Amino acid sequence: MRAPDHGLLRPWRFLVLQGAARERLGELFAQAALADEPELPAAKLDKLRGKPLRAPMIIVGICSPRDHPKVPLLEQQLAAGAAIDNLLIAAHAQDIGAIWRTGPMATHDTVTRGLGLTEQESLLAFLYLGTPDGPRRPLKEEDFQPYVQDW
Ligand SMILES: Cc1cc2nc3c(=O)[nH]c(=O)nc-3n(C[C@H](O)[C@H](O)[C@H](O)COP(=O)(O)O)c2cc1C
Repeated sequence: MRAPDHGLLRPWRFLVLQGAARERLGELFAQAALADEPELPAAKLDKLRGKPLRAPMIIVGICSPRDHPKVPLLEQQLAAGAAIDNLLIAAHAQDIGAIWRTGPMATHDTVTRGLGLTEQESLLAFLYLGTPDGPRRPLKEEDFQPYVQDW
């Protein structure tokens, strides 16, 4: 519930999917793919159905914008993105494995309608959460210098 948030609009909401809800999301993925490609082979449909089963919990991060004379949609989407990132950081701080994913399913009408989003809302993240089952991936030290200039 904390993020940089112009106007304190709290322009976000979250759906928590566990257990059979992940199977229902997989079914939505399959329906979405079939809507685009009715002849899609069964193996590909099964692969899509299995995607949400890769973690025990998925949190869907949604931007739920409010009408505001001074806070444009982009700022509300940024605030929602920051709230989602704070959730990710909070998970990592508790040693919960977490990854932010989107992909074509995040913007597919069949999926967003199936999850109950309104026309105004946007699906910003599928956060996959669970117990890490392998060693932590070593992170390369990044040189920030090319990204920062004195002005
Ligand atoms: C909006 C957004 C969407 C993303 N979608 C995907 C995705 O669909 N698949 C994926 O493998 N990584 C995706 N990522 C990247 C991962 O969440 C992660 O940041 C990346 O794998 C780098 O890992 P690290 O942050 O541990 O270095 C996305 C990140 C953001 C911010």
